[in-house]
Amino acid sequence: MEKIRVGIVGAGLIAPMHAAGYQEMPDQAEVVAICDSDEEKARDQAAMFGARVYTDFRALIADPQVDLVDVLLPHHLHYPAAIAALDAGKHLLLEKPVAMTYREALEIYRKAQHTGVHFTVAENTRYVKAYIEAEKIIRSGQLGEITLVRTFLPANERVRLSSDDFWGKRRHMGGGALIDSGPHSFYLLKWLFGDFRELAAYTSRLYRDSGSEVEDNADVRGMLACGAEFHCGFTFTAEVPHSERLEVYGTQGSLIIDQLALPPAKLYADPADFDGVAVEGVEYDPMGWHYFSIVDEVKDFVTSVWEDRPPAVDPLDCCYAVRVIEAAYESARSGHRIVTV
Ligand SMILES: NC(=O)c1ccc[n+]([C@@H]2O[C@H](COP(=O)([O-])OP(=O)(O)OC[C@H]3O[C@@H](n4cnc5c(N)ncnc54)[C@H](O)[C@@H]3O)[C@@H](O)[C@H]2O)c1
Repeated sequence: MEKIRVGIVGAGLIAPMHAAGYQEMPDQAEVVAICDSDEEKARDQAAMFGARVYTDFRALIADPQVDLVDVLLPHHLHYPAAIAALDAGKHLLLEKPVAMTYREALEIYRKAQHTGVHFTVAENTRYVKAYIEAEKIIRSGQLGEITLVRTFLPANERVRLSSDDFWGKRRHMGGGALIDSGPHSFYLLKWLFGDFRELAAYTSRLYRDSGSEVEDNADVRGMLACGAEFHCGFTFTAEVPHSERLEVYGTQGSLIIDQLALPPAKLYADPADFDGVAVEGVEYDPMGWHYFSIVDEVKDFVTSVWEDRPPAVDPLDCCYAVRVIEAAYESARSGHRIVTV
C-alpha cells in the first residue's frame, strides 16, 4: 500500500498534536497539505512537512493528492467540511463534537457508512491510559455493581472566550463548556457503561465581561440505563491546569482517577481503606497524558486505514455523545427539567 496522503484542515491549537501522530508513522502516512483561513498559520504548519498550503478547505478536499482529510475546525464547520470530504471519497478523521446537532452527526455517520471510506472521530478519551485501565477494572467486575459515576473536566478558557474569533460565539461553537468538554465525558460514559436514561442540566456564565455568549460552567446529572447515577461537571473558569477526573463507585470498591493527583489512578476496597492502591500502568504525567492520547488516536486511525479495520473509537458512540449534549441543553433551557435521552 502507498503512504496515506493527509490533508489537515484547521492549523490551530490542536493541529500540532495531530501532526505529531502522523510524524510518528513516516512509513504509513505523510502530511501533504494544510489549510487554514489564516494563511500565515497554514504556512507555519506546512513548513514542518513541506506541505501545500490552502486557505479554502474545499480546495484542499478537492486535491487529488489528498487521501485522508483531518478536520480540526470550529464546530460550525465540522458538518460542511465532513460532508465535503465524504462526497469526495476521502477518509475522514473529524475532531469532536461530531457536529453541532445529533441529526447532522448521524448524517455524517451514515454518509461515511454508505461511502465505504474509513471514518472516525478524534475522541482522544479512548486512548487515555488511565481510562484504558479503568475499562479493564470495570469489566472485570471487581468494583461490584456500579452505583455512581462522576466526571469533572476543569479548564481555563478565559483568554479564548474573550478573543474576537469564534470561541465564545454561539453560532460558531454551538455553546461553551457543555458542547466543548461534554463530548469527552459522555463518550467515556457511553463506552464504559452504555446508554443514558435521563438527565437534568444546569449551566451558567461567569465571564460576563469577556464578550463571551456561551456557558462557561455546566453540570449534568441523571441516570444511566445500567441503573447507576451519573454526575458530569465542566468548567472553563478553573485556575488549574487542564485536567480530567473520573470517579466510579461500586458495591465492592471504587476507582478514582485524577490527572493532577499522584498517583493519578487509585482503587479503594471499602470505607476503611484510607490508603487505596495505585493502579498499575498509569503514570503520573499531568503535562503529557492529553498530548499522548491525541498522538495515539491519530496513530490508531492511520493504522486502521492501513490495515482496513475499524479504529478503537466507534464514531456512533461520538454521535450519541452529541445526543446527550442536545438533551442537556434542552434541560438547561427549560429550567433544569428532566429529559429522557
Ligand atoms: N480532543 C481534544 O482534547 C481537543 C482539544 C482542543 C480542541 N479540540 C477540537 O479541535 C477543533 C479545533 O480546536 P482548536 O483548539 O485547534 O481551535 P483553534 O481556534 O486553535 O483552531 C481552529 C483553526 O481553524 C481555522 N479556521 C476557522 N475557519 C476556517 C475556515 N473556514 N477554513 C479554514 N480554517 C478555518 C482558524 O483560523 C484556526 O486556526 C475543535 O473541534 C475543538 O473542539 C479537541
